[in-house]
Amino acid sequence: MPPRYILKVDNVSNTYYETVGFKKVAKPVLESVSFDMLKGQIIGLVGESGSGKSTLAKCILGVIDYTGTITLDTKNPQMVFQDSTSSLNPSMTVERILEEPLIIRGGMTKGERMKKVEEALDAVGLSMEYAKSKPGELSGGQRQRVCIAAAVISEPELVILDEPVSALDVTIQAQILELLAKLRKKYNLSYLFISHDLNVVYQLCDYVLVMRRGKVVEQGYIDKVYNHPEHEYTKALLEASELIIKSGEN
Ligand SMILES: Nc1ncnc2c1ncn2[C@@H]1O[C@H](COP(=O)(O)OP(=O)(O)O)[C@@H](O)[C@H]1O
Ligand SMILES: [Mg+2]
Repeated sequence: MPPRYILKVDNVSNTYYETVGFKKVAKPVLESVSFDMLKGQIIGLVGESGSGKSTLAKCILGVIDYTGTITLDTKNPQMVFQDSTSSLNPSMTVERILEEPLIIRGGMTKGERMKKVEEALDAVGLSMEYAKSKPGELSGGQRQRVCIAAAVISEPELVILDEPVSALDVTIQAQILELLAKLRKKYNLSYLFISHDLNVVYQLCDYVLVMRRGKVVEQGYIDKVYNHPEHEYTKALLEASELIIKSGEN
């Protein structure tokens, strides 16, 4: 089968308007962002806080306006956020949280839905004993596992993860990254993985976009960009992550 693009972002720009006194002042947040994603690809989006990463995710999901063209050739793309506490309804049980998208989709019996819930929990490494728990009774890592289960239960091809491990301890981060790598293989998922942490991106991604002040200043296969960064900003980010050592002598 020829490779299929599930996402094409072409020349996308976004501007916020801030009110200063009586005037509206334009604040460009994204400027001419372009990249393509093949089915099955894991693209890392790196850049310091405020560079426009979350804004780009919102444009892709169509929740905010932009100029340019975004072609999303896939159904029900899913999103996983940094803050699992505010992502999950605190009054619902884990079981109910996972069942909800299946109820909305319709066409399944209660028994079929419960089987899917059990499979999704198993896929993220949680046993059925957590089914009746509420989010507040779980650890941060367990909650993020529930968020990931809630994303994959709708059988998406694309999952956008916005700083999914940034709020977690390093050991838990490693476990969640391992889980994401496993799920990617199991379900042939594509990820847009947003992180300010270049180490984390290196562990998971095969392609990387480097964003600075709303512009993608460099993009390419991860080994190429990390070993031979071309843009000064990429070099500075790698140096700050103590990853520049990998580049050695050209
Ligand atoms: N609703 C908003 N109104 C005005 N400015 C915003 C809004 N959301 C984000 N911004 C600004 O847009 C820029 C990019 O934000 P964001 O996309 O959240 O960056 P990142 O995810 O890389 O940290 C920041 O300067 C931020 O202050
Ligand atoms: Mg963000």
